[in-house]
Amino acid sequence: MANNTNGEKVVVRGLEGVVAAETSISYVDGIHGRLLYQGYDIRDLAENVSFTETIFLLWRGRLPTLAELKTFRSEIVGEMRLPSQVVEMLKLTPPNSHPMAVLRSAVSMLANFDPDVEDRSPEANWRKARRLVAQVPTIIADLHRVRRGLPLLSPDPNFGISANFLYMLRGTPPNELERKAVEVLMVLLADHELNASTFTARVIASTLADMHSALAGALGALKGPLHGGANQRVMEMILDIPDVETVQAYIAGMLENKKRIMGFGHRVYRTEDPRTRHLRKYSELLCESRNEQHIHEISRRIEQAVMEAKGIYPNVDFYSATVQHALGIPAEYFTAVFAASRTAGWIAHILEQYADNRLIRPTSHYIGEMSLPFLSIEKRTA
Ligand code: COA
Repeated sequence: MANNTNGEKVVVRGLEGVVAAETSISYVDGIHGRLLYQGYDIRDLAENVSFTETIFLLWRGRLPTLAELKTFRSEIVGEMRLPSQVVEMLKLTPPNSHPMAVLRSAVSMLANFDPDVEDRSPEANWRKARRLVAQVPTIIADLHRVRRGLPLLSPDPNFGISANFLYMLRGTPPNELERKAVEVLMVLLADHELNASTFTARVIASTLADMHSALAGALGALKGPLHGGANQRVMEMILDIPDVETVQAYIAGMLENKKRIMGFGHRVYRTEDPRTRHLRKYSELLCESRNEQHIHEISRRIEQAVMEAKGIYPNVDFYSATVQHALGIPAEYFTAVFAASRTAGWIAHILEQYADNRLIRPTSHYIGEMSLPFLSIEKRTA
């Protein structure tokens, strides 16, 4: 609620513009198209740090030294294996259940096997944080392989977490370009201020519930098509368009039918999202390397058509879809891959919430009846 000019309380729909937390983790400047992680501009970080460095930065508030990074990397890669019971659970899920539904359930299941689950001491929280950020990518890779009847792979200690994820999912080590692209993708998706899923994680953490519960809630929020679920739909749309020449009419038809174009629009950005430039570049490079230039060209044409018709910019989900496709990741796993990266940010926010907690409990504007006469069940009519 906020006060209008007459001093009356009014509901802020979608909590737009409501300041609900203080944070030093990330900052979005929607007017100038800037994104900062712990004070560093994403444009400086994107191509120059690894995902592991980004995790360290988000959690510790500073970039690691070379020695710290080496230790941190091997600690995380060393936690990438799943308890065998969780692997069994993946095998028990119906083949058509959505990977995000399985991931959400698997994170809940992991809580039951984590020796630190109910311990919120700083040491236990660091251990859980490392385990979770390592285990989420493995859940995705293992689920994919279980469903294809392929043997599960162990992480390669020579790779970091992002390259290991691709290797464990596909079974082939990523080439130079793919390693760079997956690293950039994971860095760019790692945090984004108080978006819907991060807010969800903070609300759950504010009840002093455990880290796994907060993460499972965040996964539920990310799954929705207005949030992380958009990237899968972006790819479905691109694959539904036969060629570049058809794009204009396809988009016009969607808009005429009042359909939203997935991967476009943003609550905060009023200009281009600073992550787009990097993702567009890797979309082009990867599509070219796979001889799938038409996929990137269709994306570019969609971008132009939506800009001409609505003046709306692509959001992070748009080119991350083509990047993931060209990395050989099936579309139904796109949102889960987003989650694997965002787990780093969610955990940073959960830890920040624990460190200075007050229960998040807003209020609502009641618009229902106030004095209905009670009727016993025999007297009620439908
Ligand atoms: N396609 C077509 N029109 C869109 C649009 C899209 N992707 N995104 C916003 N708009 C239009 C709305 O129709 C509305 O127009 P109107 O005022 O004429 O009705 C206007 O832009 C504002 O939209 P609104 O829904 O109020 O903005 P929001 O801040 O609540 O929503 C999103 C933000 C992200 C939910 C919204 O842009 C959207 O649904 N995008 C598609 C899903 C997506 O890509 N999500 C990933 C987000 S990172």
